Amino acid sequence: MFICSPVFEEGRSPYYLQLYQYMKKEIVEGRLSATEKLPSIRGLSTHLHVSKNTVEAAYQQLLAEGYIESQPKKGYFVSQVGPSLFKTIQTKEENKFRFNPSINVQTQLPYDFHYGSIERSAFPMKQWKKWSNLAYEMEMGATQAYGEAQGEQSLREEIANYLLQARGINSTAGQIYITSGTQQSISLLCQSILASNQQVAFEEPGYNEARLMFKSHHFSIQPISLEHDGLNVKELNQTQAKIVYTTPSHQFPCGMIMPIKKRLELIQWANETGGIVIEDDYDGEYRYRGKPIPALRSLSDEIIYLGTFSKMLLPSLRISFAVLPPRMLEKLQTLNQTVPRVIQNTMSLFMKEGDWERHVRRMKTLYQKKHDLLIHSIEEHLGESVKIVGSDSGLHLLLEVHSNDTEQQLIDKAAENGVKVYPTHLYWSDPRKVHQKLIMIGFGNIENEKINKGILKLQEAWFGLREDG
Ligand SMILES: Cc1ncc(COP(=O)(O)O)c(C=O)c1O
Repeated sequence: MFICSPVFEEGRSPYYLQLYQYMKKEIVEGRLSATEKLPSIRGLSTHLHVSKNTVEAAYQQLLAEGYIESQPKKGYFVSQVGPSLFKTIQTKEENKFRFNPSINVQTQLPYDFHYGSIERSAFPMKQWKKWSNLAYEMEMGATQAYGEAQGEQSLREEIANYLLQARGINSTAGQIYITSGTQQSISLLCQSILASNQQVAFEEPGYNEARLMFKSHHFSIQPISLEHDGLNVKELNQTQAKIVYTTPSHQFPCGMIMPIKKRLELIQWANETGGIVIEDDYDGEYRYRGKPIPALRSLSDEIIYLGTFSKMLLPSLRISFAVLPPRMLEKLQTLNQTVPRVIQNTMSLFMKEGDWERHVRRMKTLYQKKHDLLIHSIEEHLGESVKIVGSDSGLHLLLEVHSNDTEQQLIDKAAENGVKVYPTHLYWSDPRKVHQKLIMIGFGNIENEKINKGILKLQEAWFGLREDG
């Protein structure tokens, strides 16, 4: 019989990680043999005096990596890998890669406030399948092999119509380029529109995936601080940068909306310096108080606008787009299109036949509800112990936690109690300059029923059980 006796070390790493590492070692070194039954979650939690969530999280990690298997109604068993196969693993101590399975990557926990996901159950599967079938039939009759380099004309026309109605943007299909993600839009700009090796003024903190893309194309980053209403334009004016990347609808990650005065100052900066403004409007449609604010691009045709379907439809479809100023079109070196034509045609039929409009309306109502529930739960359970930052954001908000714990300690404590929350230090270009301790709480894919419970669990994890609870 397996005797599970890990020695937990306070403060080393979360208990569930220590338990996971202990059990993995037992399996790899053959002390826990193939097909052996593991103790139940409840049994082991009682035996070790840790919470059921701790054991469950450790089992989930082992399960995800294939060390153990779960058999319905029977329990958990060690997988049949065999100790001889494990011997093929390089075990020399100095060669060991110290992989710490960060809770942010794979570990599943019952309450996951992930930012990048959206509610999959709201995906309009029936309509999507209908238009997808038709798109495949169209594909069989197509004459061109690869499709149009900029993306299908029909989709670009639908996007131009939508942008006019929803974001106040005047554009034509010819100015639109379909891409497979915002990073790819930036890559396209770096490859064919922007003069190479320049400085890019970048919001600090800002969207690190965009920053990485500029850097990988050898552009240097000039961090520009934020004011209460977004990018500090005065600071921008003092730099040599001729390109600025900004998220005016909801600053990412802090959520503030750039007011019209600042928008005009930014356009003035571009006019006076010949500078280029890149607007990333990733979730501008989501506005829970009042109407959506028109995009910055609605004020000037000279702005490069980046849009995406990731936040409204499904991130894994990988459809995004860039709207380019007319004067830049001739610079565009069209490469082969990367978004599959059937997906583009499905999207274009979905938009043309009115399903997109209905879906957008539905998503706004759905997320309004989640957003309100989350704010209400935070106010009720965390109250004065936290400050909400960026409650205007579309699918996440930040918590400034009044505690002496570090960002990582707060994340670990939450994980111990079954809640997954996320760090923000990576949004600073120099994480050593992070002066605020902010925890990211996404609400895109957490069920309404779990929001309140999840926040209550955060309260317990960070501040201990309340006397009234
Ligand atoms: C600031 C920002 N821009 C853009 C995106 C969308 O990226 P993509 O179009 O690659 O899905 C995200 C998604 O998380 C984002 O946070």
